[in-house]
Amino acid sequence: MSISEASFTVVADLAKRESAMVYDPGKEYLVEARLLPLAREAGCADVDAYVALMRRDPREQARALDALTINETSWFRDNTPYQAFTDVMLPELLQRRALTRTIRIWSAACSSGQEAFSLAMLLDQHLPPGWSAHILATDISPTMVERVRAGRYTQVEMNRGLPASMLVQHFTRVGTEWQVSDGLRAMVEARTLNLAGPFGPMPTFDIVFLRNVLIYFEMETKRDILRRMRDVVAPDGYLLLGATETSLDLDEHWSREPAGRAQLHRPVNALTTLRGA
Ligand SMILES: C[S@@+](CC[C@H](N)C(=O)[O-])C[C@H]1O[C@@H](n2cnc3c(N)ncnc32)[C@H](O)[C@@H]1O
Repeated sequence: MSISEASFTVVADLAKRESAMVYDPGKEYLVEARLLPLAREAGCADVDAYVALMRRDPREQARALDALTINETSWFRDNTPYQAFTDVMLPELLQRRALTRTIRIWSAACSSGQEAFSLAMLLDQHLPPGWSAHILATDISPTMVERVRAGRYTQVEMNRGLPASMLVQHFTRVGTEWQVSDGLRAMVEARTLNLAGPFGPMPTFDIVFLRNVLIYFEMETKRDILRRMRDVVAPDGYLLLGATETSLDLDEHWSREPAGRAQLHRPVNALTTLRGA
């Protein structure tokens, strides 16, 4: 069974229009693998028949878009951003936020929540008493957002980067899965959000993790998202991109500062202010 060129074009156009994700020719195998289970569930003979059904049914379009998202993630992914969080960003914020004693973080494109809960574990470890932390975790995929809310992980997922000490401290075994503690869950609010559309009302964030999602977008979309991120990152805050992503040649209003092996993006005006301070 293989998807026709016409069906692939329909799906790629839908993904680009609704989520800005780019599925170039060559990704037919991926689209087919993701849509095949939906085709079977809907009783369609093949993926082409499912795509025909999907074109007429907005609910199937939403399900297809959800299924097409690539949700690869892990605990403390790449390690270096989390090292920079503990060594550089958090100590600086503890000084600069001494009056409000509140830290706000956005895990934008959070997938199943490992990024948000990795940060929550570090905050639990390093935040002094009397401080509070709020982590907003958003993703375009309603399935992923539900997973963050549930805070349940399989053994295979647990094996990907979670130190044993953190497992013991923050997780309880429930059947074959692991449940995140209520304390960490209370720090994390999960909701759906399409980064390609308006963000809507947002607080100002001290740190935004926008990691491993710009890679799926075209240049103009990356530029637009980076521009709108400037409105929600505090003037002395931080933006972190994935290891293979950069703001270089996309938005000159971000500066890039090394912190260990991580690269911290900071609003350019803030740097001038901080240096003058
Ligand atoms: C590869 S995962 C990255 C997860 C996590 N940030 C990390 O680095 O491990 C990419 C996530 O981006 C989400 N995504 C794709 N397009 C999006 C969009 N337009 N708006 C918001 N999230 C999107 C996908 O659903 C997926 O969960």
